[in-house]
Amino acid sequence: MFITFEGGDGSGKSTQIAKLKDALQVKGFDVVLTREPGGTPISEKIRQVILDKDNQGMTPVTEALLYAAARAQLVRQVIIPALEEGRIVICDRFLDSSIAYQGFGRQLGDAVDNINQYAIAGCMPDLTIFLKLDPASGRERIGSREKDRIEMESDAFHQRVAEGYRWLEENYPERILAVDASQSIEEIAAKIEAAVMERIHAL
Ligand code: ADP
Ligand code: TYD
Repeated sequence: MFITFEGGDGSGKSTQIAKLKDALQVKGFDVVLTREPGGTPISEKIRQVILDKDNQGMTPVTEALLYAAARAQLVRQVIIPALEEGRIVICDRFLDSSIAYQGFGRQLGDAVDNINQYAIAGCMPDLTIFLKLDPASGRERIGSREKDRIEMESDAFHQRVAEGYRWLEENYPERILAVDASQSIEEIAAKIEAAVMERIHAL
């Protein structure tokens, strides 16, 4: 089973992924955690290039292709092999982030889905947990943490990203489960665990 987590910066993805991993391991499941952009040595190098604050001149198309390149490596080197071994893969961000940030945020549109279909080679998540939080609250949670190149973007950019996630939620209701991320950490974790167990039993 392949599970991805999505949501704006500071929506609680890392927090909830750690809790879900623990809950699944207690039940005896073999869990692999990974993240995007990154998760392999090559993809982590690409991540550094993408998020580097000195790379202000990067064009939106270059950015979209670099995210897709990091993803192509992760899918082939980590995700597909783990799924073939029957393990549960949990990934912090995946394709939907590119649709929301590059497709909507950078306004590249459908091109983003096209290049990513090539990158993922049919490896789509079985379940995507979307932690829904308004961008301002996410920023407040992050507080004074140093911002990367994407986090430094304008409010208008982040509003377009939020619109992208709303579009994804409406268009893929069978795959994407939206959870109100303004609730307490424990409340959110309980909802996610219940949804994942339901999916595991259905499979
Ligand atoms: P993300 O991985 O989506 O950027 P994090 O899990 O790192 O988000 O959470 C960002 C910050 O918000 C952390 O300081 C975390 O402790 C805090 N946080 C996470 N979930 C909640 C929640 N439900 N309510 C309040 N604060 C939270
Ligand atoms: P991440 O490390 O998950 O940031 P955070 O923990 O703050 O949520 O992701 C780094 C940044 O990359 C984040 O601002 C979202 C952005 N991103 C894209 O723009 N497109 C993508 O395809 C992915 C995976 C991430």
